[in-house]
Amino acid sequence: MTAVKVAGADAAASAPAGRTAADRTSTAELRQSLPLVTVRGLKVAYDQHTVLDGVDLDLFPGEMVALLGASGSGKSTLMRSLTGFAPVASGSVRVAGHDVTNLRRGELRTLRSHVGQVFQQFNLIPRLSVLTNVLTGALHGAGPVNLVGGFTSAHRKRALELLDRVGIAHKATVPARSLSGGQQQRVAIARALMQQPRVILADEPVASLDPRLADSVLELLRGIATQDGIPVLVSLHVLPLALAHSDRIVGLRHGEMIVSDATSRLDAAALAPLYENEEQPDEH
Ligand SMILES: Nc1ncnc2c1ncn2[C@@H]1O[C@H](COP(=O)(O)OP(=O)(O)O)[C@@H](O)[C@H]1O
Ligand SMILES: [Mg+2]
Repeated sequence: MTAVKVAGADAAASAPAGRTAADRTSTAELRQSLPLVTVRGLKVAYDQHTVLDGVDLDLFPGEMVALLGASGSGKSTLMRSLTGFAPVASGSVRVAGHDVTNLRRGELRTLRSHVGQVFQQFNLIPRLSVLTNVLTGALHGAGPVNLVGGFTSAHRKRALELLDRVGIAHKATVPARSLSGGQQQRVAIARALMQQPRVILADEPVASLDPRLADSVLELLRGIATQDGIPVLVSLHVLPLALAHSDRIVGLRHGEMIVSDATSRLDAAALAPLYENEEQPDEH
């Protein structure tokens, strides 16, 4: 193995209490369950421009999967194709029992309610309280009529529990805009959990955070994967973060998946082909 300087080599120290790397269920064990996401032969094209070509992907309960690839390799498009937001030319996409490429009217909303999403820029509503931002996660899948009555006390109780889980219950009443980036991303993760998602997609969730916060946010996501049995697909542009915080790594190059292996079997040298003649990823 090439020696890789791992940002936040103290990852185990920031892992949720009671769980160490040695406790983690092996990838082989995780794979004995049925996948929650199954992608086969996926081709996505914008007009004549093929963006994803022949992509296969399975996501199993409980695993944290890092998605790597140079800028423009198709990472965000792959995530969008899992929620029916990309023009699929051929292939199949199944997510939590939904045939995404062949959804009937109304099923798209249900599908999206099953997929929690976390974004680079957090996408919170800045002037609303942290608690209200988390509560908006409960609106997924609800029609406009459900908005009229506001949130139930059960919703509020659950939102507060989730804020406690992500470590910022004491910030519940302050406007989201007053939080630091790391705290805002924790709110966004609590909001995603409010949906009771079957799958979590996190597109560059730590790209706006400093390395120490990046480690803790990724460990939070990994703990959710492990404890809740939710697969988390997380795109990253810092290789050491992917190597430190994932069970498996999949890698795209020009829309083709050229890497798919357990993280324990990969190192920086094995991932180098993803970036050959491309903009280099961040090394720290
Ligand atoms: N809505 C769109 N219309 C046309 N081309 C797009 C659209 N979205 C993405 N692309 C193209 O698809 C390719 C992959 O983009 P993207 O999935 O955003 O890559 P990444 O997330 O890996 O940086 C790029 O060449 C991009 O220009
Ligand atoms: Mg992207």
